[in-house]
Amino acid sequence: MAMVAVIGMQWGDEGKGKIIDFLARRADIIERYQGGDNAGHTIWLHDKKYVFHSTPSGILYPEKYNISGDGMYFNPIAAMKEIKELQRQGVEISPKNYGISGYAHVTLDYHKDYEQFLEELMDGARAGGKVESTKKGIGPTGSFKMNRVGIRFAEFLDEETFGQALERVLIYTNKTLGTDYKAKEYLEQYREAREFLKPFLMDERTYIRQHGEKNILFEGAQGTFLDIDYGSYPFVTASNPTIKGIGYPIDHVIGVAKAYITRVGAGNMPTILGDHEETKKQSRLLPEEYVGMLEKINRGEATDAEIGRYLRAIGDEFGATTGRPRDCGWFDVPLIIRARDISFVDSLAITKGDVLNGMKEVKICTEYKLDGRKIPYEKIGIIIANRRLFAQVEPIYQVMNGWQSLDDTNYDLYLSEIKRLVGIPISIISTGKERDNINMIIDPFIKR
Ligand code: GDP
Ligand code: IMO
Ligand code: MG
Repeated sequence: MAMVAVIGMQWGDEGKGKIIDFLARRADIIERYQGGDNAGHTIWLHDKKYVFHSTPSGILYPEKYNISGDGMYFNPIAAMKEIKELQRQGVEISPKNYGISGYAHVTLDYHKDYEQFLEELMDGARAGGKVESTKKGIGPTGSFKMNRVGIRFAEFLDEETFGQALERVLIYTNKTLGTDYKAKEYLEQYREAREFLKPFLMDERTYIRQHGEKNILFEGAQGTFLDIDYGSYPFVTASNPTIKGIGYPIDHVIGVAKAYITRVGAGNMPTILGDHEETKKQSRLLPEEYVGMLEKINRGEATDAEIGRYLRAIGDEFGATTGRPRDCGWFDVPLIIRARDISFVDSLAITKGDVLNGMKEVKICTEYKLDGRKIPYEKIGIIIANRRLFAQVEPIYQVMNGWQSLDDTNYDLYLSEIKRLVGIPISIISTGKERDNINMIIDPFIKR
């Protein structure tokens, strides 16, 4: 038996869903441990695309048990729609292979109103501004939980408790938002979702306790630098994607990272190619544009923004949840080392190296500079803790030879360099978006 965790090492969208789908083959239980329907985890199976938001990415194996866990922010209506849509696509989902923790906090409509209110208030505010959230009500679900006005999934299902809890929380929301929501209307609005989801209620801790002899896979959402505690605060989500969000004795932590880096939403990214405001205006590149673009890049004539746009197009870097264009940048080693140390990561899974195919040269950020001076790795953490300093760091790059395909020895050299700089092995290499485009070098379920 082993417990294996899959954690995003960057700003989300590293390809966690794809890695979970692959590892789920060897697992018995798959648990999504945090986040809500702000997540979008994509799996391609036989040319068919599935995107999971609240449902764990192990659900495509009907014989495995999947859990939406204790630490999640669970939107019942969105989840009901997601389950129904998956069932329509032929995916088997029933209480036999899927459970929802009674301890997860529910996200309801007023959380979204609250979020909008906050984002409008923050628009233009100094040293902060908007978070550019996914608008799924995640931040308020987290803050209501801490304010002791949240509602757990087990309570949501129980009409009496739900009604009473609503009375209480609506005093709070109506007063702060100036709305006039009525508990009765809310109860009605959620009736169908309550009936639909009732059979899935379970107690995660008891279940995991009872199945201690099994292989258990923990699926993180978002990424290390979106972590409410360790991320680039305040431009973060409202939960713990890092090891802090799991709370089980994990045997092997896999950190997933793209061969480059992306970010969607506000907040800086040291190795960004171009700039965030430009990215926000961009749509997909037309095929004829990127043929010429690669040649231009390889002649050394492209601007950073053009290289960023090229990666966005080839990597299809548009949000799986919101469709927003993602900022793209070069692989950032200081961040990966920091993520390694936060979550005690044992090995790396590297995805999307194929997106860089055909580039004559690629860059790796090996260190940061601040005020012209190199920052030792041990100081990175304290710099990320201060938004003003983190916004000022500058990347120092090492240039490496590019590769034509992932069989090219230059790609091996690139991965060896990452391994050397980060100081942990690479256990999995993803070579494309389909389930079978993957190589496993170390089996994380085998205890060493
Ligand atoms: P997640 O949120 O971490 O699960 O990642 P997303 O699903 O949001 O984004 C990752 C995207 O990259 C998805 O569209 C995947 O289908 C795709 N993907 C994953 N691994 C690879 C890979 O190795 N190569 C390519 N080209 N695409 C990949
Ligand atoms: P997966 O699991 C990438 C970002 C948002 C915003 C910030 C806060 O697919 O990797 P929130 O709605 O959570 O309050 O938004 O976090 N964000 C993500 N970015 N991938 C995700 O999930 C994300 N979930 C939230 O864009 O910057
Ligand atoms: Mg995603």
